[in-house]
Amino acid sequence: MRTELLFTSLASLETELLAVPAADTQTAKGPDAKPAPALLVADAAVAAAAAAVLASGEFKASANETLLLHAPAGLKAKRLLLVGLGKQAKVSPNSVRSAAGTATRFAKPRGIRALAFALPESETLLHAGARAAVEGAFVGDFDPDTYRSDRKDQSIESFSVIAPAAADKAAVEASFAEGIIIGESQNFTRTLVNEPGNKLTPTLMGERAKAMAAEVGLKAEVYSTEKIHELKMGSFWSVAQGSAEPPALIVLRYEPEGVTDGPVLGLVGKGITFDSGGISLKPGDGMEKMKYDMAGGAAMLGAMRAIALLKPRVRVISIVCATENMPDGKAQKPGDVQTAMPFADQPGKTIEIINTDAEGRLVLADGLTYARQLGCTHLIDAATLTGACVVALGMINAGAFSNDDATYEKFNAALATSGEKFWRLPLGEEYADMIKSDIADIKNTGGRWGGAITAAEFLKVFAEDTPWIHLDIAGMAWVENAQPYIAKGPSGVAVRSILEWVRSF
Ligand code: BES
Ligand code: MN
Ligand code: ZN
Repeated sequence: MRTELLFTSLASLETELLAVPAADTQTAKGPDAKPAPALLVADAAVAAAAAAVLASGEFKASANETLLLHAPAGLKAKRLLLVGLGKQAKVSPNSVRSAAGTATRFAKPRGIRALAFALPESETLLHAGARAAVEGAFVGDFDPDTYRSDRKDQSIESFSVIAPAAADKAAVEASFAEGIIIGESQNFTRTLVNEPGNKLTPTLMGERAKAMAAEVGLKAEVYSTEKIHELKMGSFWSVAQGSAEPPALIVLRYEPEGVTDGPVLGLVGKGITFDSGGISLKPGDGMEKMKYDMAGGAAMLGAMRAIALLKPRVRVISIVCATENMPDGKAQKPGDVQTAMPFADQPGKTIEIINTDAEGRLVLADGLTYARQLGCTHLIDAATLTGACVVALGMINAGAFSNDDATYEKFNAALATSGEKFWRLPLGEEYADMIKSDIADIKNTGGRWGGAITAAEFLKVFAEDTPWIHLDIAGMAWVENAQPYIAKGPSGVAVRSILEWVRSF
């Protein structure tokens, strides 16, 4: 998708489709409070073209509502699309992101290949909105039908963002340029998450990471079985041993020139390219979905891509532990005891395997330890870790955990910009007690109750005293119900939030 930023009047713009934002200005509540839709742009010709339909009550400007007018009088655009942003008091760059995505997804199936999106004309929305609009367009342009023979390529060829001629050009341009990088990075993640297990084995995931790293100028190392043994990653290997596909330990480094001290951020991702459950085999129903069990790892790769291009002044290392979880003759068994990677002069912790389907925490355990060994001072991990997190929060919020309030506060602040929803859940001694083992240091499941929390407690054992955030994206990595601004399929969740967290250092 080509993108351009124009500082021009809306009336004179020649385009297939001009999308214009509108909001509901009604502040009264109750049954008599009728919606009062109003355009968020000042252009007199657009106002005239939209006047009748705004007065009719047919269009309420609720979030992501659309209304199309053909051949609008007084405009050079062939079509005028009104896009709702919801209640005016709640309008934010996040509503602009959704509106731009909605306009893009409106155009796609109608054979419209080029559209223009007018930014809301308030100063804050202009600046942050340019970025959000471009992100929304990239997100909206993505469809998951890669392998359909009859795939009609309905991709948008050109997306133009329109700002008023009087706007602060430098600020809007910078914001727009960021939007391209972030939108493309989120889609990079989504493309990986969408791939089926046979098209994205751990080895192929490593190759995709390497190719991306070469493109954007990151250092990349991709290791396999030998290195995993050399590092004594017994926990990671316990999952990998059950698959005929070799695992991949993906390490990407972002080292900005001249930055030799300060924090080193560790981005650790779960990269299970297919999760059958292993010997604790999952039921067949819905098992195909477990191709997206590498979404946490893919989110880290997408975030690293954006980091490489946006160049924050902080060092970042990403570690993705990629493997299948399969029920092979060599697979680990419930009851087995594994030894995790040692750290410094401490021997590796021993883990009793209760359920081989709790594999994500096993690969992350060694990923976190390795990140600490490489010198990371702050850790964040992302994983499609537990069904229990989906039970707790539904498909509305992802789960978040942390052992350090100050570090979490930075992440929480990042959410205002990313527009993603994470809800912090507790940790605590009583939960830690639930994963004590009779035979080993810890066990890999804590029973049915509080499953998202006991999984986080397991990871916390390996983060030790390093400030750490854990993101459980099991319910959010895959969009089950298509929205006007995003297709059913991989969401790319966490890319934007992790990026903003990194930029906050
Ligand atoms: N990958 C799954 C978690 C998952 C569930 C991701 C639903 C996406 C959607 C994870 O490896 C898993 O199987 N977790 C088990 C843990 C249990 C055995 C303690 C679960 O949640 O049932
Ligand atoms: Mn599992
Ligand atoms: Zn899994």
